[in-house]
Amino acid sequence: MKRPVKATLPALILGFAAVTTAMSADLPPYRRADLPVAQRVADLLARMTLAEKIDQLTQRGLDDSNPNNVVRRATELRPTYGSFMTAGNLAVRNALQREALTQTRLGIPIIFGADVIHGYRTIFPIPLAEACAWDPDLLRRADHAAAEEARADGVDWTFAPMVDHCVDPRWGRIAETFGESPYAASVCAAAAVTGFQEGPDGIAACLKHYVGYGASEGGRDYSSTEIAPQRLWEMHLPPFAAGIQAGALTVMSAFNDLNGVPASANAYTLTEVLRHRWGFSGLVVSDWGAVEQLIRQGYAADEADAARKALLAGVDLDMADGVYREHLAALVASGSVPAEAVDEAVRRILRVKFDRGLFERPLVEPSALTGAAPTPAHLELAEEFAVRSMVLLKNSGVLPLAADVRRVALIGPLADDRADLMGSWFQQGRAEEVTSIAAGLRDRLPVGTSLEVAPGCALDGGGREGFDAAVALARASDVVVLCLGESAGMSGENASRSSLRLPGRQLELGLAVAAAGKPLVLVVVSGRPVELGALEPKAAAILAAWQPGTRGGAAVADLLTGRRNPSGRLAVTWPRSAGQIPLYHNMRPRARGGTYGEYQDIPTTPQYEFGHGLSYTTFVYGPIRMSQTTVAPGGTLTAEVTVTNPGARAGRETVLWYIRDPVARITRPLRELKHFESAELAPGASRVFRFAIEPERDLSYPDADGHRILEPGEIILFAGPETAEFRVAQ
Ligand code: BGC
Repeated sequence: MKRPVKATLPALILGFAAVTTAMSADLPPYRRADLPVAQRVADLLARMTLAEKIDQLTQRGLDDSNPNNVVRRATELRPTYGSFMTAGNLAVRNALQREALTQTRLGIPIIFGADVIHGYRTIFPIPLAEACAWDPDLLRRADHAAAEEARADGVDWTFAPMVDHCVDPRWGRIAETFGESPYAASVCAAAAVTGFQEGPDGIAACLKHYVGYGASEGGRDYSSTEIAPQRLWEMHLPPFAAGIQAGALTVMSAFNDLNGVPASANAYTLTEVLRHRWGFSGLVVSDWGAVEQLIRQGYAADEADAARKALLAGVDLDMADGVYREHLAALVASGSVPAEAVDEAVRRILRVKFDRGLFERPLVEPSALTGAAPTPAHLELAEEFAVRSMVLLKNSGVLPLAADVRRVALIGPLADDRADLMGSWFQQGRAEEVTSIAAGLRDRLPVGTSLEVAPGCALDGGGREGFDAAVALARASDVVVLCLGESAGMSGENASRSSLRLPGRQLELGLAVAAAGKPLVLVVVSGRPVELGALEPKAAAILAAWQPGTRGGAAVADLLTGRRNPSGRLAVTWPRSAGQIPLYHNMRPRARGGTYGEYQDIPTTPQYEFGHGLSYTTFVYGPIRMSQTTVAPGGTLTAEVTVTNPGARAGRETVLWYIRDPVARITRPLRELKHFESAELAPGASRVFRFAIEPERDLSYPDADGHRILEPGEIILFAGPETAEFRVAQ
């Protein structure tokens, strides 16, 4: 017999007050914040019926966009679900929560999740751009700001960070990745998890999409993936491991079929690796409908089979498709799913709810941030991040714009665009709150400098009607700033492209404008590297602005006018054409000389290498100095390099430390990033950058089953243009 719900429950729902410890002794153990979480979970689980347990394993989508429907919706939905997806309406969220607390027997709070990917109301640069800043602390602060805003609207949990590994820019979701280095992505994963989760206004983070989704064949979203186990361990799994080490409370199982076993029913990755080897104790949520999709993928015969396979493999919470809710009871009754498997999934979900304090603070009190426009502090952070994430790809000296520039022609479909600067997953971001490039430049150009704007053509499709006006404007200018690229909808989920070319008439427009003969500054706004083709040699300067978010236009203006000095570096290789894909810095060496291998029809080098990025000053590297030339397992070798800024203006340099293991039992990549550090250098200043090398951490590598190998032998170390060698002793 289950015990009836205690009379103390109403105390929880009357207001926002937390349950005080003074009341503790009267409460059932699961309601007592003074008891260990494991005890509370065990107590609650013991009180639950099978139906109540299955409710906990179900997450439902929710359209809470209409505030007038609050009460009706809350009543209609009878929220016996463990979790809802929400965003943007605190009243709806709290109304549903009240229903859960008062209308269900045990009053288990709902956990509300949302996709807070690169900002909530204040939009930060897309993750790919964020990685180009090489500043985990900045990422942490931005994600925390996003968490604060989201939390104020009642979000308990974000489906971020995405830490998928991808070397195919055709895949629209490359925009959401932290680039092609598993090490850099691992550092970003940890920073993002900390940023989202830390502090009383933090929200639970979710590492996604576990695992291999970024290898979708041909860059086509939702496609199957063939990932050699060696590659899975080297490239795809490390950022998940790092995020879990940083304390991520949740993980999302991916859509992709992974070598014949879909990721959302893959016991090896979900149970053997995640639970047994990494000791992950939080919850695994399926991606949207991923359980039901096992049928389409040919892995499950019907919904019941899909529910059984996903649950037994290790998916705890079923997002959106309702398959667990529909079938688990019968599966348990027939013995196809052991009751203990259901209990274990419920345990993991409850643990997260307890951990987030949902039992103590089920309702979210409105605050100054609820439904509010971005605060000045968040806008400042957004501008800083946008400035820092942009990469100056090329500069013949036209930038920063000279003081005698009097007439600036701002051309291109993205010149005065706002919505597209936010990129995909812009949550509650509003176009009217975005600073366009035109607005940013108007604000930042010196008094007396004119700025005229002509779109020239549409972002996609359309004709050449605008060309003449754009070219005439270019002719009448001292300098042309040409803003080309992609719309927000051309990257992100299910937004893959077969080519990386500038869409529509943009390349044509660019060439026509370039023919006007004025210095041409190309600003590329995009969710991926794009093919620059014949325009590249014609541009005097090129700035990769990515999709820079709410303050993107101000950041572009900061950099073009020289108020700020560019410091972003590519976290992804920028190919010349889609035909080169995959092209990435950490590939294995080829059989014959040369790094990349030959094509007959195009140069085979990337357009811009991973790590590339210019500054308005220069940096000079001294030789790498090492504390010793041999390091033994368990020891440490410290490498140092002195970097000097001989220029007349301050600049930020990021030192990227790579290793190469030239002879190994399993061949190693040409270069593997192992450490990075970024710092501001005043004019004339020097700084010592350091890498304390620990062999087990920095020089070992996994085999095809994840077991680490550390071999004696030579290692080559790279920092900037410098190299050095040392040995790992027996
Ligand atoms: C996406 C996830 C997202 C989820 C919930 C899915 O379609 O793949 O990244 O978190 O929807 O919106």
